[in-house]
Amino acid sequence: MSIRLLSDSLISRIAAGEVVERPASVVKELVENSLDAGANEISVWVEGSGTSLIRVSDNGGGIPFEDIALAVESHATSKLKEESDLLKIATLGFRGEALSSIASVSKMELLSRTQNHEMGSRLRLEGGKNGEPTMVGSPVGTTVEVRDLFYSIPARRKFLKSPSTELSHISDVINRMALSHSHVHFRLDHAGKTLSDYVVTSRLEDRLQQVLGPDVAGSMVPFAGGHGPVKISGYLSAAPSSFSNSRYLLSFVNQRFVRDKIITHAILQGYETLLMKGRYPAVVLFLTVPFGEVDVNVHPAKFEVRFRKQSEIHDAVAGAVRSGLKREAKEPGLKTSSGEWLLPTNVREGPVPYGTVSRDSLQLFRNDLFRSDTVETPSGAQGIRKGFFSSLTILGQLLGCYIVCQSQEGMALIDQHAAHERIAFEKMRLQIEQGKMERQDLLIPQVFELPFAEAAILGQWLGGLEHLGFTVEGFGGDSFAIKAVPALFPAGDYRDVMRRMIAELAEVGHSTELSQELQERLMTLACHNVIRANRILTREEIYALLEMLDEIDFATQCPHGRPVFIEFSQSQLERMFKRS
Ligand SMILES: Nc1ncnc2c1ncn2[C@@H]1O[C@H](COP(=O)(O)OP(=O)(O)O)[C@@H](O)[C@H]1O
Ligand SMILES: [Mg+2]
Repeated sequence: MSIRLLSDSLISRIAAGEVVERPASVVKELVENSLDAGANEISVWVEGSGTSLIRVSDNGGGIPFEDIALAVESHATSKLKEESDLLKIATLGFRGEALSSIASVSKMELLSRTQNHEMGSRLRLEGGKNGEPTMVGSPVGTTVEVRDLFYSIPARRKFLKSPSTELSHISDVINRMALSHSHVHFRLDHAGKTLSDYVVTSRLEDRLQQVLGPDVAGSMVPFAGGHGPVKISGYLSAAPSSFSNSRYLLSFVNQRFVRDKIITHAILQGYETLLMKGRYPAVVLFLTVPFGEVDVNVHPAKFEVRFRKQSEIHDAVAGAVRSGLKREAKEPGLKTSSGEWLLPTNVREGPVPYGTVSRDSLQLFRNDLFRSDTVETPSGAQGIRKGFFSSLTILGQLLGCYIVCQSQEGMALIDQHAAHERIAFEKMRLQIEQGKMERQDLLIPQVFELPFAEAAILGQWLGGLEHLGFTVEGFGGDSFAIKAVPALFPAGDYRDVMRRMIAELAEVGHSTELSQELQERLMTLACHNVIRANRILTREEIYALLEMLDEIDFATQCPHGRPVFIEFSQSQLERMFKRS
């Protein structure tokens, strides 16, 4: 074996592999260049799956004749001047690698003119070999044409998916850039057919409508947050609408689309207990941070970033999402038009179904939940305003389970179990937060035995459970006794719910620290115990329930993310009866 240096052309093809994964990567790099050049008109023309032709034209600043040959050299860029610039990158590109990489795996032609030159310049390249630039007539701006992509690396061609898949990747690329650059006109044509045409708009809502369509965009509301130089803004779907995958989770850092685990985690944490398992929200999030606080030089295709103060960013994002949702839940209404959320999906909870009436359980039900005076709102003002729920006109109760009301829009149905669960959950959260978890001692401790492994795990978590209001003590061997439970829960048998909480703890393993997420999961389990069966409510009880929903946060969803209420507008009702 002898070691040899690779030839330049081989080096650039290897490097191209990182940047140019598929036709959509070419579109991404070229459109980024157009944006960096200050264009506000960008049109993309694609033929086949992008392998026959990709042409990107812009009306940006253009490349002067004397620079055009240099632009396609590797590591040639006009965007970094000195080393320290790398620490404060304000452009989308900076690596100086895109044009040379694309040129090394395709047949490329550049046509460009700047404002200050009468004539434009043209440069043709094939397999990375430069032709001579020539002077030609050209409009101001730049057009880059890429033909026969990957003709020199057939292996890469084999990995491409069907033309429609490649095209949808291209369209995703343009959609993302369009969301963060609403002042730019984007157009995508495929084989002579216009697929997208996003005219310039000063309102982000309009761009959302153009890109995401009226159904998804219509379910979203604006939110904002952040502190100091970290600014957060965007649109999020109010809790009732959700989607079966995360494709509408779009985050941008300083206008650059990124896939960032920290941001995604923070967004989902903001939605904690508001979405059913396996459901995702739609969020378009713009994060602005000082250039020096974020490293964008992490990934060849620049999809990832690294923050200097990760946890600060995380908390700011989670907080902004949370408070946006909190505000939205106070004014619930008909924001969803997609109706996708009505479809059943699996819900994270035990096997006990909502449903059948059981007389015994009526006794289990204690009136604490109806005493609205025990609910303390963090800021007093919120409770005073007449809220959405208490302004509903109560029409009656249905099947011992639903409350039927007239709302301003039409008809509202409330699932009383889901409502009770959320109320119990929020009360419990408040008491924990304020450090005054009220407990009730059980007259007779409830003793239960566990298999050895689970007993060991429970032993580790006794402090954590105490924090949630459950006093559990060892009772000799692998037995334990529940001595007290949160006062806001009805009297009853807590051994089953305790077993389910232990199963949840066993998943986490050994630790004595209760994370926020774990705590919420346990609280959700505990609250499911609150009410199980149907119960006839008096009108006063219904009214008290509605008032309480106005006083708590996130009244629109039960802690498993199921809706607490569903509203039908007059026009929806008319449509159902074929009146319109
Ligand atoms: N559409 C364009 N308009 C104006 N200049 C461009 C355009 N595309 C590329 N350039 C010039 O070519 C250079 C090299 O582009 P590229 O290889 O993508 O590297 P980078 O974007 O990282 O600088 C850019 O720095 C820019 O000066
Ligand atoms: Mg570039």
